[in-house]
This record gives sequence, C-alpha cells and structure tokens, in this order.
Amino acid sequence: MREEFFRLNSLMSGSLAEAALAARANAHAPYSNFMVGAAIEDAQGGIHSGCNIENATYGLTVCAERVAVWKAMSEGVRQFRRVAIAAGPKGEPAQPTPPCGACRQILWEFCGDIEIVLVNPRGASETLRLKDLLPRAFDGTFL
Ligand code: THU
Repeated sequence: MREEFFRLNSLMSGSLAEAALAARANAHAPYSNFMVGAAIEDAQGGIHSGCNIENATYGLTVCAERVAVWKAMSEGVRQFRRVAIAAGPKGEPAQPTPPCGACRQILWEFCGDIEIVLVNPRGASETLRLKDLLPRAFDGTFL
C-alpha cells in the first residue's frame, strides 16, 4: 500500500467513502470482475452514487463515476464538492485506483477541479485534485 494512503479522518469524507463502498457492492462487472463504486457530494451535501455497469459488447460499459454524475445531473444538480471512488478486483482489498481518462474528462466538464478521494474497504484513503490528474484540460473555454 502506498505511503500517502491515509486513514479516513473526517466524518464528511467518511460518509462519502461509505457511499462509494456501498455502491461498489452493486457493481455489475461479470466480464472484468473489477468492481467500482463512486459517490459524488453536491454543494448542498447531497450524495449521488454509482457503480460500473458492464455490457457483453464491452464498449457499452459505463464507469461508476459517470453513472454517479449522470444520476446527479438528471436530478438537476449542477454543483459538486468532491467525489469518492472505491475500485478494485472483486473480493480483494482495493489499492487506491484513480478514475480513467474518460471519467477525468467528464468530471472536469461538470465538476471542474473537484477533490477526489480514493478509498478502499479497509478504510484507507488518498485525496487528490482533478487538475493534477488532468493537467491542461480541454474544455468549453477553448470553444
Ligand atoms: N471502471 C470504472 O468504473 N471507472 C474507472 O474509472 C475505471 C474503470 C470500470 C469499467 C469496467 O467495468 C471495469 O472498471 C474495468 O475496466
């Protein structure tokens, strides 16, 4: 486990982490057996979670982060504070796993430089900023 992987120490990130871990349990990942849960906190403190949902055509698989963002957006939510992600192979303690490139782009589009908390089932976490995962991002400001 990486050294900067710290124990959760705040109630707020703890409950968000728990929501991500709970969502991970609902992952539909029969092809990869890689289970991901994401929970995004909005500006009012509401939590919107999602899991990865795979498809036999593979390419139609949707990542947990995008499910969480789509759920929140479809309920009218537009401002977000932070997102927790719990990812790892089924049945194993997950190492801190950052979001894929496509989800970084989606998170940037709708959340800007959001705080990202990577969590695992043992209660460890690592906190990052999206701008460090997606430097010099392309977005609407260039259009
Ligand atoms: N996955 C996510 O849900 N989020 C990511 O950021 C990385 C990958 C899912 C997609 C697929 O169901 C499985 O993990 C393996 O790639």
